[in-house]
Amino acid sequence: MDTQTTATLEAIYDKCAANEDNIITVLQEIQKEFGYIQEEVVHWFSERSNIPASKYYGVVTFYSQFHQHPRGKNIVTVCCGTVCHVKGAPRIIAKVREDLKLGEDQVTTKDMQFTLERVNCVGACSIAPVVLVNEKVLGKVTPSKMVKSLKEHKG
Ligand code: FES
Repeated sequence: MDTQTTATLEAIYDKCAANEDNIITVLQEIQKEFGYIQEEVVHWFSERSNIPASKYYGVVTFYSQFHQHPRGKNIVTVCCGTVCHVKGAPRIIAKVREDLKLGEDQVTTKDMQFTLERVNCVGACSIAPVVLVNEKVLGKVTPSKMVKSLKEHKG
């Protein structure tokens, strides 16, 4: 780990006064700084705070707000709840994959511009199928509407 990263981690450690009661806050700060929760960072905090890494991972895996892999600049979140599924979410996902040239099991484009994610019901079933592009909610999404939205976000 380079000195700059270590200094950043020390700053987070001091700011949060890392202890077992504020693991969430620590992880939020880490994610804000690095974009995702890296394994080596968890181990650094584990050693520094004397809290087992498993406690950090317990929180990371429990809350969907935390990510263990680098994510793209734009996050395309397709709702895969029952209603959206019935109304065509699988077709939307297939279109996104095709348009972004995502290989099997690949969720982030090579240029780090897009990450495809799935969620369960986002509570907007009346406008299913629903897709979130970053924070923007798109309703009654069709494959062509999806492609248009992706185009707007391409650099
Ligand atoms: S199932 Fe997609 S919004 Fe409810």
